[in-house]
Amino acid sequence: MKKFLIAGNWKMNKTTQESEAFVRELKAKVKSNPEDVAVLVPFVDLHAVKNTLEGSGIKFGAQNVHFEPAGAFTGEVSVPMLKEIGVDYCVIGHSERREYFNETDETVNKKLKALLAADITPILCVGESLEIREKGEEQSFVGGQLVADFEGISAIDAAKIVIAYEPIWAIGTGKTATPEQAEDMCAFIRGVISGIYDQATGDAMLILYGGSMNAGNAKELLEKPDINGGLIGGASLKTEDFSIIAEAAASLK
Ligand code: PGA
Repeated sequence: MKKFLIAGNWKMNKTTQESEAFVRELKAKVKSNPEDVAVLVPFVDLHAVKNTLEGSGIKFGAQNVHFEPAGAFTGEVSVPMLKEIGVDYCVIGHSERREYFNETDETVNKKLKALLAADITPILCVGESLEIREKGEEQSFVGGQLVADFEGISAIDAAKIVIAYEPIWAIGTGKTATPEQAEDMCAFIRGVISGIYDQATGDAMLILYGGSMNAGNAKELLEKPDINGGLIGGASLKTEDFSIIAEAAASLK
């Protein structure tokens, strides 16, 4: 049976009160396979979201973390802090963090290791810019990101990571990659992981597509053999759209 994860990346949206109301509505709408659904929320919403999700089976997580366990890093949040709250997931290396907050493959790698040591599942984002795609260099770029991001991570740990392929040109632009473009890259990513580790690790890897996935286009993307779900921004902010995407995945299991 194909494995799926439908993860909503709220980005910098929803106050605590808004997050509670949203999650209450979402719980009522997600009818099948709630354990395949996750919301990735601002740090300040984590407690409220956890409490409101209680008993629903829906998972939750954060959007970033620092790699050091504690210390003088004003404004940062550590892995032990997330662990105590009980998050299931943490997004790492989102292109917005790489672009606006100096995230590099080196910090991504450190963050992955810190999360894996604490048994929190990282959702690692990779993906190329429009400029790189137009030069036809998207595979070598994404392959390079993967090699650097997985540096020094064992096969056992690597298998716990979820990868999200998010072409930057498709994020928040309404310009979705075609199912073929998304499938090609997700299959390529699976091959890179098999190359670094082994076939079994590549085969078992959960690989998501992200970039303007919505209620209308989700099914044809999720039908592709190498796409195990979605990392969804804009369309995850509405319970109706997000639950339609979740049901599309459930219908393909
Ligand atoms: P989008 O965002 O669905 O709004 O394009 C996806 C993401 O950035 O994770």
